[in-house]
Amino acid sequence: MKLRDKVALVTGGGSGIGEASCNAFAREGARVAVVNRTLAKAEAVARRIKSDGGCAIAIGADVARSADAQRMIDKTAAELGVPDIVFNNAGVSPAGRITDISESDWDRCLNIDLKSVFLAARYTIPLMIEAGGGVILNTAGTFGMRAATKKAAYSVAKAGVINLTRSIALDYARENIRCNAICPGYVDTPLNIGLPAAERDAFLEQYQPLRGLISADEVAEMAVYLASDAAKMITGQVFVLDGGQQAGLYA
Ligand SMILES: NC(=O)c1ccc[n+]([C@@H]2O[C@H](COP(=O)([O-])OP(=O)(O)OC[C@H]3O[C@@H](n4cnc5c(N)ncnc54)[C@H](O)[C@@H]3O)[C@@H](O)[C@H]2O)c1
Repeated sequence: MKLRDKVALVTGGGSGIGEASCNAFAREGARVAVVNRTLAKAEAVARRIKSDGGCAIAIGADVARSADAQRMIDKTAAELGVPDIVFNNAGVSPAGRITDISESDWDRCLNIDLKSVFLAARYTIPLMIEAGGGVILNTAGTFGMRAATKKAAYSVAKAGVINLTRSIALDYARENIRCNAICPGYVDTPLNIGLPAAERDAFLEQYQPLRGLISADEVAEMAVYLASDAAKMITGQVFVLDGGQQAGLYA
């Protein structure tokens, strides 16, 4: 087991990549705090982990709110132990150019996708330092590496996550805290539910050289590796899992 005796907190743990990561972390021996804005979704995931013999708690929290971010860290520390791993994965992906989206959509996206990483890191780092170290993982995305059309707020937020990852890695390396970002390409999750299949297929045909769909489980496996001691000398890096999308301009 790669994460035996570790405590892991996963935001957006109620579905998609977060749910797959909660399951994978639990399978690898971690005690898992499943965090989701909708408590019922987090509870369903925690219940399944427990029925499979793992250890999990559910926490309802809005990661964009400072008080909730503090509470999710404190509750995890109190009930499971100081988190060894915090996976900032919750996110939303509103579509639109900056003249199409509202100011509140802009704020919402930047707060949920980017500020949440700042908040969770701020509240967890002092505890990790006291405990001797830890791992922070962030789900960014390939749109944070190169902007996508009609995804202005999302592309900006995810680009911010990438450099925040590097800042945390540099600033806390001497305290034995590692921080890395995962950049998935198109993953088949509820986040993309609004995208009609024909548009999805056209996108993948044009931009993704490898054929097939990336699953949330594949992203979770990467998270397990980066969270584990096998990656103990890896920090400040961006790990791309995109079927070759970022290798060039067109497939
Ligand atoms: N699916 C993709 O193609 C793709 C590609 C690149 C990056 N990502 C990123 O992966 C991450 C996970 O997304 P997913 O694809 O699994 O989609 P998803 O919609 O299944 O998961 C996102 C989760 O975050 C939760 N969430 C949203 N706002 C929240 C808030 N304020 N507080 C707490 N929880 C909140 C949602 O309830 C949901 O469970 C996101 O950061 C997303 O931007 C996804």
